[in-house]
Amino acid sequence: MIAAEPDELLDLAVAAAAAAGQMLTAVRLPGRPEVVDTKSSPTDVVTEMDRASEELIIAQIRAARPGDAFLGEEGGEDAAREAGEVRPAGHAPVRWIIDPIDGTVNYLYGLADWAVSIAAEQAGEIVAGVVHVPERGEFFTAVRGGGALLSRAPDGVGAATLRCPSGVPLAQALVATGFGYEAARRVVQGEVLAAVLPKVRDIRRGGSCAVDLCSLAAGRVDAYYERGVNYWDRAAGGLIAGEAGAWVAGLSGKPAGPGLTLAAEPGLFTELHDLLVTLDPERDA
Ligand code: IPD
Ligand code: CA
Ligand code: CA
Repeated sequence: MIAAEPDELLDLAVAAAAAAGQMLTAVRLPGRPEVVDTKSSPTDVVTEMDRASEELIIAQIRAARPGDAFLGEEGGEDAAREAGEVRPAGHAPVRWIIDPIDGTVNYLYGLADWAVSIAAEQAGEIVAGVVHVPERGEFFTAVRGGGALLSRAPDGVGAATLRCPSGVPLAQALVATGFGYEAARRVVQGEVLAAVLPKVRDIRRGGSCAVDLCSLAAGRVDAYYERGVNYWDRAAGGLIAGEAGAWVAGLSGKPAGPGLTLAAEPGLFTELHDLLVTLDPERDA
């Protein structure tokens, strides 16, 4: 059985994220990468690079840990199943949650805020995760119970411990959020935003859930909320924000999920939560 210490899983995730980041930036030509597919709506695009990044990450991790399970945004789990892969008996049950490019629209337009997000899950819990932001040369990492770090090198040399902002009242809070790809969802997201905006310092729509959660961990924003984020969007970033002191959860005691994902230090979390609850943000038009 291959050992599955969270530190070792993190090392593997960081190496795969670094390789994917290098590939994604190295092959970047002037102009926009080709859109090869759309998902939930015509603006929910997949580029050839999303697929290439996911393939590279899965191949690299699988070479070190054959038999682990994968949930990749671009179909990694299905691909593994189709290949008839069965986890060997007694193998450590690790599942890798991968968003090969979080912030695809930013990547498409040549904006910097996109990330490679890789998390390791054991027994249904994320135990290690990395969010690598290649255009900023940043690696945000966390191991459950071990705090959150930001470093500029994959080997973690010179890493800084992260602590999300505390004591910020809602009226002074810089709040990150995002929008889904479907019009019916955006109608409600716009209504909710219109009610939140007058009550906070300002809003940021960065374009990557994973980066938003790491920005919270690093004190670049004070809070984050979004309706409709998927597991791969928030798996690594949620651990990193949590390890930096944020509460990461849904509304009314629910766990973070597609209904709503809200993250901030406990005091601000409560204030923003109580405002959002009054706005019924989990509906679609
Ligand atoms: C999206 C980004 C965006 C968020 C969307 C996500 P993608 O992921 O995280 O910030 O607002 O909800 O779907 O499509 O770029 O991987
Ligand atoms: Ca995503
Ligand atoms: Ca993606």
